[in-house]
Amino acid sequence: MNLTVRMLSVFSSVARNLSFTKAANELHLSQPAVSMQVKQLEEAIGLPLFEHLGKKVYLTEAGKEVFHYAQSIAQQFIELEHVIEGLRGGVRGSLSVAVASTANYFATRLLAEFSQRQGQLTYRLEVTNRQTLLVELQNNDKDLVIMGRPPDDADLVAEPFMENPLVVIAPPMHALAREHKIPLSRLAQERFVLRESGSGTRIAMERFFEERGVRVTTSMEFTSNEALKQAVQAGLGLGIVSVHTIELELEARRLVVLDVEQFPIMRHWYVVTRKGKRLSPIALAFKEFVLTQTPSVLR
Ligand code: PGA
Repeated sequence: MNLTVRMLSVFSSVARNLSFTKAANELHLSQPAVSMQVKQLEEAIGLPLFEHLGKKVYLTEAGKEVFHYAQSIAQQFIELEHVIEGLRGGVRGSLSVAVASTANYFATRLLAEFSQRQGQLTYRLEVTNRQTLLVELQNNDKDLVIMGRPPDDADLVAEPFMENPLVVIAPPMHALAREHKIPLSRLAQERFVLRESGSGTRIAMERFFEERGVRVTTSMEFTSNEALKQAVQAGLGLGIVSVHTIELELEARRLVVLDVEQFPIMRHWYVVTRKGKRLSPIALAFKEFVLTQTPSVLR
């Protein structure tokens, strides 16, 4: 089979987008040029890779197989680049990191400090919730991910580097704000606002109450820590958040942490990578930095 890397990468773009037009835009090529590459690949393989139904494009069985291999070949090329970069002794390049929404409160500071020490780098930081991070790890999209403990999965390597205590927050005027050692069961009389399903904080909170047989009333759902804190300040309910998210509000006395028995819920932050993934020298350096320098940077 006479295949070229060029054919495979053009084909992959069409397969990913399921559109010749989008692939042409992504690759800055004309649409006929994209079609030509795909046609040559189909001729080399001797089977059609796409089928057209109405206006939609679908991968054929052969198309799915070729896409699978084209992706791993592309990954191998990236790894080869990393290895060469390492052999040249450089740690230049770009770094693509994804972090849980809650980790964003400190991840930017870590990246800023790291970039000051390294220089000559470009970064891409994506902030999203736990569920999306797990999908990205599955797709091998990111150099590394900072998140709460991932599910036990033979394909992932997770290394803890810092505690992540979750606490109950309330507005300063709340009836429980001045109480000490509030029994856990007392929370059953309160209303709680929640993060979205898919958030690690939410999963930990639900598990915690369930394991202890406490039923709390929940009302509204918010897709960010910021929105949730605003809701708590506005008196819409109590909230459970990571202490990393409330530094400013505690300082300004806009929120208080309630002294509830059995709290905080102790979680940890992990650097997570896919097993067997060859990290670029810069990604390796960043991982090492996070694992060893976080306490001194965030002091
Ligand atoms: P989040 O936090 O998904 O709630 O932002 C991450 C985690 O605690 O796992």
